[in-house]
Amino acid sequence: MSKNILVLTGSPRKGGNSDKLADAFIAGAQKAGHTAVKFTTADKNIKGCRNCMTCYSKGTACSFQDDFNSLAPMVEQADMIVFATPLYWYSFPSQLKAAIDKFFSFMIGNRSLKIKECALLVCSGDKIESGFDGIIASYRLIANQMKWRDSGIITAPGFFAKDDILNSESLKKAEALGFAI
Ligand SMILES: Cc1cc2nc3c(=O)[nH]c(=O)nc-3n(C[C@H](O)[C@H](O)[C@H](O)COP(=O)(O)O)c2cc1C
Repeated sequence: MSKNILVLTGSPRKGGNSDKLADAFIAGAQKAGHTAVKFTTADKNIKGCRNCMTCYSKGTACSFQDDFNSLAPMVEQADMIVFATPLYWYSFPSQLKAAIDKFFSFMIGNRSLKIKECALLVCSGDKIESGFDGIIASYRLIANQMKWRDSGIITAPGFFAKDDILNSESLKKAEALGFAI
């Protein structure tokens, strides 16, 4: 069955390591017959959630107008969501985290999502796997809260400069994961 996959990226660095992970995953998913679109949170203006609890009461997901109101319908139409991101301070970059924070609106607005599964593609400058512990724990707790099945986590440690990830096994793994969806 063909799936509608939404890939949320976190890096402001165009063509950087996590962007390449996202593109590899998308290439694999498209080869398998799925539709995959990339939403670059760092190119958008998404402010932090204000906990005003008025989500969806004014016709849009968030009562404060920003680009989350363009993202929300894309989330509602997706069957799968993928987070493709660099590790920033052992966690999600603030641009992506702001979008995730506003997922609160789906709960407060009682919007049921079609999303059944998710994946995490994350790269880091340091070579240590344990640097990913925090972001993986957050990702798993978010997936559990949203009732999304984890379809795969790809960690890509040791890539610091923009093109470091080129020709790496990590890109092959990301493409294989996309193809296996
Ligand atoms: C603000 C900032 C915070 C970072 N924090 C970490 C970190 O906690 N651990 C780490 O290993 N690398 C860290 N890095 C390095 C990036 O994860 C690494 O350069 C990554 O490849 C960037 O991915 P991109 O090319 O997709 O932007 C940080 C980089 C920046 C700019």
